[in-house]
Amino acid sequence: MTAKTSTPSASFPVRRMDFSFGASQKYWFAGDPFMSHFMNNLSSLFPYGEKFFVDSVRAVREQITEPQLKKDISAFIGQEAMHSKEHAAYNEYAAEHDIDLGRLELRIKVLLAWVTKITTQKQRLAATCALEHFTATMAEQLLQREDLTTQMNDPKLYQLWMWHAIEENEHKAVAYDVYQAVGGGYFTRVAMMAITTLTFFGVIGWFQLHLLRKDGQLFNWRSWKKGLGMLFSPRNGFLTKLLLPYLDYYRPGFHPLDHDSKQLEQRWRQRLGFN
Ligand SMILES: [Fe+2]
Ligand SMILES: [Fe+2]
Repeated sequence: MTAKTSTPSASFPVRRMDFSFGASQKYWFAGDPFMSHFMNNLSSLFPYGEKFFVDSVRAVREQITEPQLKKDISAFIGQEAMHSKEHAAYNEYAAEHDIDLGRLELRIKVLLAWVTKITTQKQRLAATCALEHFTATMAEQLLQREDLTTQMNDPKLYQLWMWHAIEENEHKAVAYDVYQAVGGGYFTRVAMMAITTLTFFGVIGWFQLHLLRKDGQLFNWRSWKKGLGMLFSPRNGFLTKLLLPYLDYYRPGFHPLDHDSKQLEQRWRQRLGFN
């Protein structure tokens, strides 16, 4: 793996990564099928999902005049393109364990092509802001939760996810600032969040069942119990803990930087040797 830095004048760098995933374990998260497939599930969304984010921001780039935001847009596009590429590399590798993430990627491609057809530029940008809020808050959880990250028992996948998690926090305000700069309003922002939430959980629920069924794990109740506990336990479930930050998005004056994650990012940059 190598990490080089470019676009130094943006608020955050674009790191050129090149992971090779040979010999990664099949059940690399907690040795558990449900949780490993949950992370695989998320990974299958990224190659075309991140392309959708990039396209949504790029479509209005010409309307942006503020110099710092223009630089940050370039760095945002660079980071997201790199995430697409590296998750696509992992997804391709997963086929070695008979996990067909390529098929799920294509379903996302078709879904997003349809979404692009039936929405306006501003609605797509609002959907991007909503999904960027998901990725930033999920990523922040990962950065905070040693109890979860120590269960990633494959070093390359650990690096992939933690690198991605840092960058989602570094660029979490860019799509939002662009949305505001092009006159995006409150109603479209929260309406698209509501629609995006239903779609997102519908898709990951569907993909989770598909991955477990294809792997012969659909009736592995022990794994279901463990996975659902890790995601939904009332006190510290991975998804349960996202509820308050999620609701905050519906606040009229919300801005992604209201929640400061800079120290956390800095700690992890040092930890992964990015400084
Ligand atoms: Fe990303
Ligand atoms: Fe992102």
